[in-house]
Amino acid sequence: MSAVSPCGVRLAGTGSAVPPRVLHNRDLERMMDTTDEWITQRTGIRERRICDPRTEGTFTLGRDALARALDEAGMKGSDLDLIICGTCTPEMACPSNACRIAAALDATPAAAFDLTAACCGFVYSLNVGESLIRSGRFRSVGVIGVDAMSTAIDYDDRSVSILFGDAAGAAVLVRDDDPGKGCIYQRMHADGRGWASLYIPRREQEVPADDRENPIRLGCLRMNGREVFKFAVNRFRETVEDALAGTGLSVDDVAQFVCHQSNLRIIEAARERIGIPSEKMPVNIDRFGNSSAGSAGLLLDQLRKDGKCGAGDTVVVVAFGGGMTWASSVWRL
Ligand code: UT7
Repeated sequence: MSAVSPCGVRLAGTGSAVPPRVLHNRDLERMMDTTDEWITQRTGIRERRICDPRTEGTFTLGRDALARALDEAGMKGSDLDLIICGTCTPEMACPSNACRIAAALDATPAAAFDLTAACCGFVYSLNVGESLIRSGRFRSVGVIGVDAMSTAIDYDDRSVSILFGDAAGAAVLVRDDDPGKGCIYQRMHADGRGWASLYIPRREQEVPADDRENPIRLGCLRMNGREVFKFAVNRFRETVEDALAGTGLSVDDVAQFVCHQSNLRIIEAARERIGIPSEKMPVNIDRFGNSSAGSAGLLLDQLRKDGKCGAGDTVVVVAFGGGMTWASSVWRL
């Protein structure tokens, strides 16, 4: 397509996938110096899902999540003309997970690329896919947020390893002739000056001098938890408030605020400051931990499947994470 015409973007289906293996806090107690009580009180997490590295990873999780979203939309892979996979833990640097997922779902020759925005992977992918449809260049886009943080975790580092789990969430976006349909507002931001608060080094020289006193394991996530916590509480509140101001919506107008599941204390702190009732800001972090790019898409799919939001409802999706990045996406379903 070359002509740009005003159009809307409909969310035609969502899907998700998690590995079957459950890692309970009690399992972590046997692996490191921690307790179920400490983890539950500080993070709200009781268990998380972990890939079997021999058979599972972000390719399989992302593929399964998108296949389910296509099923719900009543579409096939061959109906897509673009696949965007938001992930910071792809199995390979080349090819992208998106290319392998496109091949597995018979979407060839749809365009396909991965997008790196850490925990914002799903929201960034949703916003980029939505914008490309509105540009008139694409008609149907499959977007995925997926991470297998278990593949980038040093299980000797108790301050990091207890937080993360593996999951994928996906959505199928299609062009709609009604310009008021679908995504009504979106924002994406980054501040790379804070990158060293959350990063996965591949070379020792990338590790800042003040982080070298801690043991270095290349390929494993390094996190300044307190810095990320402060960043997240403030940015989360500002991002939600900006989405409400930008759309003219009040908290009452929104059916669900779908938030990246970072830490229960972060979510609760921001929710209370904004004044959102708890039933409008649901959590699943107790069962799935922080699944990085997988978390917002997983929660959105669960809420739709549970009937907590549906046709005609407004949902606000927000995330923040490594980069540092933060983003929002407001949808009229
Ligand atoms: O999606 C974005 C990704 N990241 C995040 O959202 C992370 C945001 N940050 C956090 O969630 C929190 O900072 C953590 C959960 C990572 C840590 O909680 P905290 O309340 O900030 O703990 P802390 O790092 O200030 O550590 C407090 C104490 C320390 O002991 P001392 O120095 O007071 O004796 C730690 O050594 O807790 C200790 N500690 C632990 N104890 C038992 C740290 N990790 C553990 C653990 N079990 N797993």
